[in-house]
Amino acid sequence: MDERKPVVSFTQMKDGTKQDYLLLQEFEKPYHALTAERVLDELRRQGEATLEGYRITRLEHGLQSATRAEREGADIDWVFGALLHDIGDGLAPQNHDRFSAEVIRPFVRWEVAWTVEHHGIFQMLYYGHHYGWDRNAREEFRDHPCFDVCAGFCERWDQSSFDPDYDSLPLAHFEPMVRTVFARKAYDPDVIREGVVTGLPGDVTSPARRI
Ligand SMILES: [Fe+2]
Ligand SMILES: [Fe+2]
Repeated sequence: MDERKPVVSFTQMKDGTKQDYLLLQEFEKPYHALTAERVLDELRRQGEATLEGYRITRLEHGLQSATRAEREGADIDWVFGALLHDIGDGLAPQNHDRFSAEVIRPFVRWEVAWTVEHHGIFQMLYYGHHYGWDRNAREEFRDHPCFDVCAGFCERWDQSSFDPDYDSLPLAHFEPMVRTVFARKAYDPDVIREGVVTGLPGDVTSPARRI
């Protein structure tokens, strides 16, 4: 805390004055503006403290996913989603998919947030049977309009991105994109486009449609 800066008068929120809350509102603006930097810091941390056993770090996994998406012609929302789909691994390892989705949800298309939120259950197709789980648990979403994009995301960019020999682009390449997306107006309906599925690049099986 910077002790030269003004602070609120209250010790319990219910005692705060309008002036207190206007002061907090002023501080929220620069704080929100630094969300991108905090998320980038978390990504860098995933290159240090990582889940052991894999052949690459979590940071490299995110970079590899995002690089594959970009090289396949994905747009900024998909590349951003691929980069951050596992950003929740550190703080919410038991529900990292939902945590990651909440981090990006205010700033990306609905289909991208849905995909990140559900990628965990879709990924089980590739390994669930080795633990005696139902690898087809994702079938409960078979009729959801995002089923195909989530399945494609996992097949093309997530499950495939554990290769130590892949030439991923560096984080510096994606940093401007991360800042651009977090600088969007939160929950802008023109960005979110709830109910619209545009599909993945080159995917002729899931053309743009609306539920
Ligand atoms: Fe994941
Ligand atoms: Fe992943």
